[in-house]
Amino acid sequence: MTVIESPTLASIDLDARYALACKIAKEAGERAVQMFRNRAALEVEHKGLQDVVSIADREVEGIVRKYVNEAFPDDAFLGEESAGGVSDALLGERVIWVVDPIDGTSCFLNGMYAWCVSIGILVDGEPAVGAVFDPNSGELFHAARGHGAFVDAVPLNANPARAVRDGVLGVGFSHRVKPEAFVPFLDRLLRDGGMFIRNGSGALMMAYVAAGRLIGYYEPHINSWDCLAGIVLVREAGGTVNDFFANDGLLRGNPIMAAGQALYPVLTTLVDGPAAQG
Ligand code: IPD
Ligand code: CA
Ligand code: CA
Repeated sequence: MTVIESPTLASIDLDARYALACKIAKEAGERAVQMFRNRAALEVEHKGLQDVVSIADREVEGIVRKYVNEAFPDDAFLGEESAGGVSDALLGERVIWVVDPIDGTSCFLNGMYAWCVSIGILVDGEPAVGAVFDPNSGELFHAARGHGAFVDAVPLNANPARAVRDGVLGVGFSHRVKPEAFVPFLDRLLRDGGMFIRNGSGALMMAYVAAGRLIGYYEPHINSWDCLAGIVLVREAGGTVNDFFANDGLLRGNPIMAAGQALYPVLTTLVDGPAAQG
């Protein structure tokens, strides 16, 4: 059993939370896929440029929150659909569930299959548990700090690629950042013989990095609910991820870079560009 001990604070049962995160991700995903099959009935709202949402996102987040509150009423909760009401006081909480009920909403609402439920847990400021469930493939990607990463019961290993030409890199982009903060990176990637994919779900692509399907992932700004579960998965699969939670990444988001150990320095150099190299 994994218990996080502190000399002054109560211990935290990580195993129980890990098991619950996996269970909830599956149950919430089963409900989400029912709504996906009836998506014509969903009214689409626009939160911003290329940023959509529907009642499905809110209902699924409500399901996750209810399970967490019932089992661990003292744990804090940060969900994408209720994040607007969250204050800096959250930063003082020891256990925070960080949840994207549907990551890949644009795919979900437009009948494409790249979406998932993403549940991460931060303990004492450190990524501790990740569960990403893809109800369309039936795959549950899950990891807990110090226990390895798995898809269902199969252990995961990040890709051993040493160069970007050795495989496909996942990328993400949103209009939260300017195109010029991203496009030069793509130019450098392609000139080095690399290739990219943006499937519409950052959480799922991070899980694919853990699984070695993608050689890495880069997005110039991503929110914590999109990537916390993926961060745990990639690290537990032996990969490397930047310090996403520095400078208030939990509430404001940050760039994310993730890759197998050998490729990670190559990726950071590509992201930084020639000015930083010189
Ligand atoms: C988005 C997806 C997308 C990523 C964006 C996210 P949403 O989340 O993960 O792949 O590029 O940064 O906002 O809106 O589908 O939950
Ligand atoms: Ca998301
Ligand atoms: Ca979402």
